Amino acid sequence: MKKLTIALLSGGISSEREVSINSGNQVYEALDQDKYDVLRYDPKTDLTKLVNDAPRIDAALIILHGPYGEDGTVQGLLDLLDIPYQGSGVLGSSVAMNKLISKQLYTQAGLPIPPYLSIKKGELIDTEEYVKRLGLPLVIKPVEGGSSVGMTIVKDEADLKNAFELAFEYDSTVLMEAYITGMEITGGVLGNQNPEALPLIEIVPDKSYEFFDYEAKYTAGATREICPARIDDSIAEKAQTYAVMSHSVLFCEGYSRTDMILDKKNDLFILETNTIPGMTATSLFPQAAAVYGLDFSRLLDRLIELSIEGKRK
Ligand SMILES: Nc1ncnc2c1ncn2[C@@H]1O[C@H](COP(=O)(O)OP(=O)(O)O)[C@@H](O)[C@H]1O
Ligand SMILES: [Mg+2]
Repeated sequence: MKKLTIALLSGGISSEREVSINSGNQVYEALDQDKYDVLRYDPKTDLTKLVNDAPRIDAALIILHGPYGEDGTVQGLLDLLDIPYQGSGVLGSSVAMNKLISKQLYTQAGLPIPPYLSIKKGELIDTEEYVKRLGLPLVIKPVEGGSSVGMTIVKDEADLKNAFELAFEYDSTVLMEAYITGMEITGGVLGNQNPEALPLIEIVPDKSYEFFDYEAKYTAGATREICPARIDDSIAEKAQTYAVMSHSVLFCEGYSRTDMILDKKNDLFILETNTIPGMTATSLFPQAAAVYGLDFSRLLDRLIELSIEGKRK
């Protein structure tokens, strides 16, 4: 069988560059060298080389997180170069990257989300009004962020302004959400025509972390990740249905991972959908895939198959 030439894209210019470099290295190690010739590109420096090499590339693995990688930009370039790639296309990537648009589409589909408001840079800030409408604590986040970068949990109205300032360093639109107390879970989805839900993962950051922040996400041992999540079957089924629905209402393709919170009354709330979830061997999506029966190397095979299959369609 002829080897496939795979372009592995990692690094990039977003605030999640380090995460992407780490994922890219682990993906490189896990790709079956008998099946693939792997060419590596860092979009920060290698785009011209990628364009020149395009005629000999069979498919690409985009291991980039955040803006300029997970938002449809790189996907558009690869479409122009006629190179298949894993996951969502331009539409799904750009929609899911923007948490405000995502919320509007979740709501339209009847999917539950935390109450929220958004403000643009330069708009008048009225903290009293926000607290009156959403209560406290409030979660402040950039609208197109990731890895919890630029986020704050605000317990006191007086701290809101600082939290906005931090989030505005990363984006010109900022979201504020009612804080939902409960169990954090995340649901992966895999497939093209009939995407399937993977086993849910329960996320339990160490008590020393206020929430699943950057450190809790990327420090070994900081967070317990339990798969399958320890919840009732009926709720698990509902959460998996929500993950598949989120995938489709956001025009996602191939795979995605939706973050949710289950509150004390067993109500589910959707936070966001990642179209290029973390991809180290121990990241959440590969963990769920392993419980589902796909080890890291075979998961990568599957994503490449789905990208070529999807392109043919
Ligand atoms: N409304 C909320 N209530 C409680 N915790 C939240 C809320 N929104 C976000 N979080 C916490 O912040 C983390 C990151 O938020 P998320 O919306 O998933 O953004 P990111 O794209 O940065 O992962 C979540 O995993 C969760 O721990
Ligand atoms: Mg998240």
